[in-house]
Amino acid sequence: MSVADLFPDRFESSLQACLPSAETCQPELLATMSYSLLSGGKRLRPRLLAAAAGLGNCPTEPVLLAGAAVEMIHCYSLIHDDLPAMDNDDWRRGQPSCHKVHGETMAILAGDALQPLAFETLLAGLDDVDLPTERKLLALRELARTAGPQNLVGGQAADTTCSFPDSLDNDPLTRVEWIQLRKTSAMFRCPLVLGGILANLPDAELAALGECGLLLGNAFQAVDDLLDRRASLAELGKTPGKDESQGKLTIVSILGEEDTHRRVLDLQVRALSLLPERPESGAIRELADKLINRRF
Ligand code: IPE
Ligand code: IPE
Ligand code: MG
Ligand code: MG
Ligand code: MG
Repeated sequence: MSVADLFPDRFESSLQACLPSAETCQPELLATMSYSLLSGGKRLRPRLLAAAAGLGNCPTEPVLLAGAAVEMIHCYSLIHDDLPAMDNDDWRRGQPSCHKVHGETMAILAGDALQPLAFETLLAGLDDVDLPTERKLLALRELARTAGPQNLVGGQAADTTCSFPDSLDNDPLTRVEWIQLRKTSAMFRCPLVLGGILANLPDAELAALGECGLLLGNAFQAVDDLLDRRASLAELGKTPGKDESQGKLTIVSILGEEDTHRRVLDLQVRALSLLPERPESGAIRELADKLINRRF
C-alpha cells in the first residue's frame, strides 16, 4: 500500500461511505455534513496518517477509516472556524462556506455531528486490526486529546480571545506558539501517531513521529499565515487578508514575512530529522515538502 494508491479516489469513496445513510439521518443535517466533508481540500492529515502507517504493515481499510476520522475532526473545525462568531469567512475550499449555504444552525449541528462520527469511524477501523487493546485505546485517547479542550478547542479559544493561562509567559512568540500548537499542530501530530499505532511501531518511534507532527504543524500554520497575506481568494479558496483585518496574533504579525519564512525552513529540517532513516519514511518527507511549499 502506498499513499499514491489511496488518494484521492479510494479515500474519497471511503469517506463518503462513512456518512450516515439517508434512511437514518435528518436530511438537512446530512446535506450539510456532505457539503463540507466531500468538498475536497488537500486531505493532508489523512495522507500523513497513511504515510505513517506505511512505516509498518497495516491493512488498507483501517488506514482509510482512521484517516476519515481525522478528516472529520478537521472538517468540523473548519465549519465552526468560518462561522460569524469566529473568523466569519464566506469562502472555504473555493466554495461558499458551510453556513452561507446551509445556515448557521445547520453548520453548527453538522460540526457537532462530525465529532462523534469521527470516533465511531476510528472505532470501526480499530475493529479491523490485530493490535493489543491498550494500543487501540491509545489511538482513541490520541484523537480525543487532540480534538479536546487542551488542544484544538482550547487553541481556537485563545485564537479568538487572545487570552491565556495566567502561568503563560507574556512574550508574544510564546503566546503565538501556544495557539499554533493547539489549534493546528496537534492535528498534525495526531495522524502521524495514529498511523504509527496502526503500523505497530515501538513507543520511541511513536513519540518521535508525534514530535515531528508538531513541528510540521507549526510550519504549516506559519505558511497559512504567510499565504493569508500573499495569496488571492482564487488561489486560496478562502478569503485572504483576514488575519490582519481581524487583528489576529500570528507568527507573521510578530516576526514579519522574511523571518517567518526562515522559521518555516528551520522547522522543516528539525521535523524531518526526527523521522526514521529508512526508505519507508520517504512518503512523509514528500508530504512535508508539499505542505510547506504550497500555494494554497
Ligand atoms: C486549514 O487547513 C486550516 C488550518 C489549520 C490553517 P488546510 O489548509 O489543510 O485545509 P484543507 O483541508 O486543505 O481545506
Ligand atoms: C484555523 O486557523 C485552525 C483551525 C483549527 C480551523 P485559521 O483560522 O488560520 O484557518 P483558515 O485560514 O481559516 O483556514
Ligand atoms: Mg481561525
Ligand atoms: Mg479562519
Ligand atoms: Mg488562516
